[in-house]
Amino acid sequence: MSKPHILIIGSGWAGFYLASYLSTSAYSITIISPRRTSAYTPLLASAACGLFNFYLAEEPVRSKSRSSIKYHKANVISITFSTQTAHCIPAFDSPSPSSSDISNQPFDIPYDHLIIAPGCGTNTFSTPGVTTHALFLKNVSDAMTIRKLLFDLLEKASLPTCTPSLAASLLHVAIVGGGPTGVEMAAELDDLAHHELRDMYPEVAPYIRISIWDVAPNILGAYDRKLYEYANERLVRRNIAVETGAHIEKVEQGAFWTKEKGKVDCGMLVWATGNKAVDLTESLDVRKTTRGLVRILTDSHLRVYKSKAEDGDEVFENVFGLGDAADIEGASLPTTAEVACQKAKYLVDFFNDRAKTNPPSAKPFEYQQKRLVSYIGSHDGVIAGRGDQEGWTGRSAWLAWRSGSVMWTRSWRHRLVILLTWLLNSIFGKEIAKM
Ligand SMILES: Cc1cc2nc3c(=O)[nH]c(=O)nc-3n(C[C@H](O)[C@H](O)[C@H](O)COP(=O)(O)OP(=O)(O)OC[C@H]3O[C@@H](n4cnc5c(N)ncnc54)[C@H](O)[C@@H]3O)c2cc1C
Ligand SMILES: *[C@@H]1O[C@H](CO)[C@@H](O)[C@H](O)[C@H]1NC(C)=O
Repeated sequence: MSKPHILIIGSGWAGFYLASYLSTSAYSITIISPRRTSAYTPLLASAACGLFNFYLAEEPVRSKSRSSIKYHKANVISITFSTQTAHCIPAFDSPSPSSSDISNQPFDIPYDHLIIAPGCGTNTFSTPGVTTHALFLKNVSDAMTIRKLLFDLLEKASLPTCTPSLAASLLHVAIVGGGPTGVEMAAELDDLAHHELRDMYPEVAPYIRISIWDVAPNILGAYDRKLYEYANERLVRRNIAVETGAHIEKVEQGAFWTKEKGKVDCGMLVWATGNKAVDLTESLDVRKTTRGLVRILTDSHLRVYKSKAEDGDEVFENVFGLGDAADIEGASLPTTAEVACQKAKYLVDFFNDRAKTNPPSAKPFEYQQKRLVSYIGSHDGVIAGRGDQEGWTGRSAWLAWRSGSVMWTRSWRHRLVILLTWLLNSIFGKEIAKM
């Protein structure tokens, strides 16, 4: 008897977790994703600022130990639920113009069980110039681009022809988005500017300025007032400008415009805000959220709802949705890796139990709320309260964030190398020469 075939769409936090833990003896498994690697997103800001080598911040989908899993470098463009087929187009970065090239030939993959986890894209809110002039922080190649531009800007500012006012514009790094990612990016850059860059670029490092821009009335809005006010005050004390209630109107080469302040010069603008549904999510004929971010709706067993009930069946029994692209109807959860991994673990248990002779009956998914932790620079952090326990700030919050970010990587080899790198960094400083 052939094994049931599980098809996984996406190799992000959700898809990669499933691919790592679903039983390969009970199922044949295929992953379809344009990305051959899965990024440890919580480590990207640190990697961009040279805390450790880039390869530690991602993991390849193909692995020696699970070589029976099939991977295809492609996008799923549509799904025919009635025939249980996913329609795909190969995804390569430099597409060939010739339609007879194999990289342009669509193909179909049938499935017994389908898991939809294509994540989200970045929402630029249609702000002109963002896609061409802003940098993003979604994957390791984005982190590399940020690091390279930072050092190019420092070298430009060091040229004999550079004036002090030009140096100040070039070395202004603007970060749009005052959520945990934007704040952490600002914090890591500021740490770098005050330590390694001071020694390496003593003449121009003092010109480095970092600012955070957000349309909301405060940064880190997911935390209590006491905590976000603390974070704000700490950042401002370190000369990181926090511009809240700011509307970005357009971005150009070397500058951006806000409704409140007009033109602002900058050498680098990092866009770290906003999720947008990917094309597949937009086009699928299933029930979706009607307000805010478009997400596929599932029941509490993560089964995808049909757009219209057929023969009394409201859900597809063999189609599951999770990660940033999906949400449970009536029990909405945020778009985080934490939620994606917990849901992926739920499905792993569900499928692996089902393969046993006496499977337990499936319980609905229950989210275990973890504490929110954010790094705000200079060995300081904030941890949100939970239930009736209060949140806290300071060095122990930073340590909690640090150890938390090690635990995000699933390979012990990566964890060990990250810990060793941190230890060496704290003794000898970061290995800037290699940046
Ligand atoms: C810089 C940064 C820091 C973050 N830090 C944290 C943190 O500290 N804690 C936390 O909990 N969360 C954090 N997050 C959020 C977290 O990364 C996301 O919630 C998580 O990635 C969602 O997982 P996912 O599997 O749904 O989607 P993703 O990880 O985005 O993966 C989606 C995958 O689907 C693929 N795909 C897209 N379209 C298709 C298609 N049509 N066909 C096939 N494949 C497709 C993509 O290429 C990708 O491989 C952070 C995010 C960022 C960007
Ligand atoms: C990384 O993400 C950016 C958008 O943030 C995208 O344009 C790019 O293709 C991605 N690259 C890789 C290698 O995943």
